Amino acid sequence: MSSPTLIDNSITNNTIIWDKSSLPDKIQTFDEYKSLYTLSIEDPNRFWKMAAERLNWYHFPTKIKNTEFDYRTERGVDIKWFEDGIINVCYNCLDRHIEKDPNIANQIALIFEPDIPTDTHHHITYGELLCKVKKFANVLKKHGIKKGDRVTIYMPMVIEACIALLACARIGAIHSVVFGGFSSHSVAERISDCNGTIVITSDFGVRGGKCIPLKSKIDQALLMPECNTVKTVIVFQRYYGMENLKDDCVERRKTLEWVNGRDFWAHEELETVNDICEPEQMNAEDPLFILYTSGSTGKPKGILHTTGGYLTYVNLTFKYVFAYNPGEIYMCSADVGWITGHSYVVYGPLANQATTVVFEGIPTYPDVSRFWNIIDKHQINIFYTAPTAIRSLMAHNDSYVTKTNRQSLRLLGTVGEPINPEAWRWYCNVVGNGRCPIVDTWWQTETGGFMITPIPNAWELEAGSATLPFFGIQTQIFDEKTRKPLEIPDRGELCIRDSWPGQARSLYGNHKRFIDVYFKPYPGYYFSGDGCEIKKNGYHWITGRVDDVLVISGHNIGTAEVESALVQHVAVAEAAVVGYPDPIKNQGMYCFVTLKDNVLESDELRKELIKTVRDVIGAHVHPDIIHFAPNLPKTRSGKIMRRILRKIVEPDIHNLGDTSTLNDPTVVDELIRTSPRTK
Ligand code: PRX
Repeated sequence: MSSPTLIDNSITNNTIIWDKSSLPDKIQTFDEYKSLYTLSIEDPNRFWKMAAERLNWYHFPTKIKNTEFDYRTERGVDIKWFEDGIINVCYNCLDRHIEKDPNIANQIALIFEPDIPTDTHHHITYGELLCKVKKFANVLKKHGIKKGDRVTIYMPMVIEACIALLACARIGAIHSVVFGGFSSHSVAERISDCNGTIVITSDFGVRGGKCIPLKSKIDQALLMPECNTVKTVIVFQRYYGMENLKDDCVERRKTLEWVNGRDFWAHEELETVNDICEPEQMNAEDPLFILYTSGSTGKPKGILHTTGGYLTYVNLTFKYVFAYNPGEIYMCSADVGWITGHSYVVYGPLANQATTVVFEGIPTYPDVSRFWNIIDKHQINIFYTAPTAIRSLMAHNDSYVTKTNRQSLRLLGTVGEPINPEAWRWYCNVVGNGRCPIVDTWWQTETGGFMITPIPNAWELEAGSATLPFFGIQTQIFDEKTRKPLEIPDRGELCIRDSWPGQARSLYGNHKRFIDVYFKPYPGYYFSGDGCEIKKNGYHWITGRVDDVLVISGHNIGTAEVESALVQHVAVAEAAVVGYPDPIKNQGMYCFVTLKDNVLESDELRKELIKTVRDVIGAHVHPDIIHFAPNLPKTRSGKIMRRILRKIVEPDIHNLGDTSTLNDPTVVDELIRTSPRTK
């Protein structure tokens, strides 16, 4: 294996540019990567045309790349890929495989692994999935949904969630999936932001052995005036493999509230439609979906992805990074409510005709062997999960892993946070028995697919490094203070120099915010919000967020959102939320809370505040420390100095930096004295 020297005066020196007329099936050597990487940078039109040829188009694009990253130009930030191409995503994920080879109708597309392992799992073939998607697409049409309409999907991690996504894609409706852990308030906020008229949900989901009500959360959300655009709610019954909770569920089902004329059972609606549904012919730049993600300020951002570029990108990244072989069983443990679920449970795998596992449960239920048992049960070859899960499982005795077989595994992957070398080695040596490469994939909701990632066996891995950029991705680090580009090796704020097909095109209904957040910090570049060290050999080491977004257990949480939830409690005057390093979850959430006059501090109040945050945002958001602070460090103009709060909780109290602009420096001493992190 040759050793990469990507950055020493550019990879392009001494590199033979790829001269074949199509892309290879796999990237086998570093030289092959270098020659294709060079092509992707020097002639992106030719590279991405070959990538687009991996899909079936109604009209193959004659224009490939037409993008502008510099907001200062007359055109402004404007991203178009394959702009005259006509394509349908659902057709490419399902129909085309069967049209090419009718036997594929019998190949398993999805394997549903229910939360409770003794419940029956369920397999669905490409043929069955296509039929169900067509029928459900007809249900949506029957309810007036057409191209361009926004459809909110609030589902557990079940096959029907995938069907809902694909059905939207088939008819050109724009889906907006909201993770099932979000509160009714958060769902309402997301429905109203995109003016959705329809919600697809389930009566409940099952996680960790418990029923999680979903429909009732939607009922509450729809009571809010901002959601009065919603006319229809389609409700799936959670029914596969429900042996263990059957009675409980049947009872709960009886007590569901039902709004006649608005609420419809999916299974009843499906009986009224046929399975003939031609895919809608979509322009490559028509929106495919919106997915909300936390920002460092204000409301969640509706990340907007479009059709042709997104599919081209997830198709190619899935194929190369997992080096997928036909017939292999692939599992990604992410929920479809996050981008990882969109790109690498549904669209990437299905566009590659893969067999992909839909896992409803959690890694620790019923015990910490769950993942490894699933790997044996379904003979999984490729397994992709988050470092948080790995660290939490690693905290237990290795026998939970070693008692399982795991011989089917060929490749392991991680995503969501930096993985510390210790967890990486445990994953590699204990889970993978030292024989499976690990792909540590760095990317974001905004990027659509993998950005910096190993390609298995094409170069050497280093524990904790996402290694090198994918095709078409040019990284550049900047000095945070001087705003100048840095030479390698160094450490700075990570930006991307030019467009790639999978990137978000805008924020739904707010292009200005899109530009402000991603393109203004470093003109001419996409700003990732992450810090990164690039070493001499070109390997990238992501150091974590540089803005006010926390990454906790692989979930992005905006500190501003938590602060605004806290101040909704009557007792709270002011709140400031910062993260601190956590050995398992990546970060912990530390909330400084100033109470109103005459309100007494108590543990009871602490619990109430935690509950408030969970109720307002969602059950997956959990403050770890509530510190009642009579005063917060502020500048003379009244701005909270979060930089100092971050130093206190890290704790790194000997490097507080410049405190001369503080209104009252004694406030800091008091916080240090009373913080549980500095004791
Ligand atoms: O901070 C980075 C971290 O997760 C953020 C993106 O979160 P989200 O949009 O929710 O997407 C998560 C799944 C793609 C990034 O800004 N992150 C993601 N992958 C890695 C990572 N940090 C370090 N290493 C990674 N492999």
